[in-house]
Amino acid sequence: MNFLDLAKKRYSVRKYKDQKVEVEKLEMILEAGRVAPTGANKQPQHLIVVQEEEGLKKLGKAANTFGAPLAILVCTNKEQAWTRPFDGFNLSHIDATIVTDHMMMQATDLNLGTVWVCYFDPKIIKEEYNLPDNLEPINILIVGYAEGEPAAADRHSTMRKPLSTTVSYEKL
Ligand SMILES: Cc1cc2nc3c(=O)[nH]c(=O)nc-3n(C[C@H](O)[C@H](O)[C@H](O)COP(=O)(O)O)c2cc1C
Repeated sequence: MNFLDLAKKRYSVRKYKDQKVEVEKLEMILEAGRVAPTGANKQPQHLIVVQEEEGLKKLGKAANTFGAPLAILVCTNKEQAWTRPFDGFNLSHIDATIVTDHMMMQATDLNLGTVWVCYFDPKIIKEEYNLPDNLEPINILIVGYAEGEPAAADRHSTMRKPLSTTVSYEKL
């Protein structure tokens, strides 16, 4: 499957089968995150893989894990990330997000379902995982085998803005 077809096939899965994600698949997902580009190659991310029942319950205090067997908590370290000298803009959130996206697309390629979660209370996560001050939780990638009918790959024709409204050439 070419990349565009894969991107169109992906959808947010909010119901999962009671079926574990195989170790080899998890390793491929993590590897896809590892090779993701980051600003100045600083790689400020730290990922916490959560797949034990206790761990999923703990994560569930801060976020909906949608009954999935696997969640990857993507954290980032501002002090390790590159900062743009002109305006002090720190790339740590961008870097963590590219890592998350790489993993999400690798999971899709493995026929796994995912949903990206930002709706969580970072304070609870920081407490539950004893994260140091410099490590910030950014994204949770929920992964597992999807339950139910997949979303149609052609839904983007109505569910996404047309390019004409989000892209312009040469000028705004
Ligand atoms: C940065 C980001 C944060 C998101 N946070 C949540 C979330 O907290 N909970 C949730 O159910 N979905 C979340 N989503 C999923 C989006 O709602 C979903 O991707 C969007 O509505 C498009 O639907 P689709 O993924 O099925 O194509 C998030 C997606 C992104 C990219």
